[in-house]
Amino acid sequence: RIEVVHIPTVVHVVWSDPAQNITDEQVQSQLAVLNADFRRTNPDVTAVPPVWQSAPADARIEFALATTDPAGSPTTGITRTRTATAGFDTDDAVKSSTTGGADPWPTSSYLNIWVCQLNGGVLGYAQFPGGPEPTDGVVVLHSCFGTTGTATAPFDGGRTATHEVGHWLNLRHIWGDDGEGCNGDDFVADTPNQGGPNYGKPNWPTVSCDNGPDGDMFMNFMDYVDDNAMVMFTSGQTARMAACLAGPRASLVA
Ligand code: ARG
Ligand code: ZN
Ligand code: CA
Repeated sequence: RIEVVHIPTVVHVVWSDPAQNITDEQVQSQLAVLNADFRRTNPDVTAVPPVWQSAPADARIEFALATTDPAGSPTTGITRTRTATAGFDTDDAVKSSTTGGADPWPTSSYLNIWVCQLNGGVLGYAQFPGGPEPTDGVVVLHSCFGTTGTATAPFDGGRTATHEVGHWLNLRHIWGDDGEGCNGDDFVADTPNQGGPNYGKPNWPTVSCDNGPDGDMFMNFMDYVDDNAMVMFTSGQTARMAACLAGPRASLVA
């Protein structure tokens, strides 16, 4: 793929406490992070250790708040829904008006992002390609969304949405989702085999699964480190996302 693809995006703000009714500015700050991270224009990409200096890749994907709603009318690409639900679980209730949330816009034409209060310390969750249409999209805790307003350190860099949209485009966790084991696979050839997730701000190198001397690529968006410690996708990951946009999610770039 040569061309940059553009994904029409709708952000559904679902709030019970007025503080959760985040501003348009906070939403726009998140779109700016997505566009930097998926175009490798994020300034902190320079934090990659010298040994992986050429690994960060441009996914050539850009996101824009929708300008036309499903009825064909002009829109800001942001919906606002007041709910009686103080906090949502990962059961997809936020994705339907019948369960206190907001209905998706057609998931074949829009990336749906729900922003709300989440219970249990969950920062966000995503649905992989190939799942049911009514729940397709990603959900992000309002205080992990964007870089201003209610965004709170260490998750105030907009990277939760970058990570969740990575899942939505078929990326697995970099450690292979096998707990701490060394047999899990993220189905990407240019990420080192890695034991389990890393958290916080690890020191480089962090070795696991005999992956020394360079160790875990914990500065990858698909690890669990703090927002200001994750800075890159690899070429293998961008190829996997491109395959998703040429396959199961092709309708979004038509
Ligand atoms: N726990 C979430 C998930 O697995 C997101 C973690 C995002 N990490 C971050 N530093 N923002 O999907
Ligand atoms: Zn994840
Ligand atoms: Ca593993």
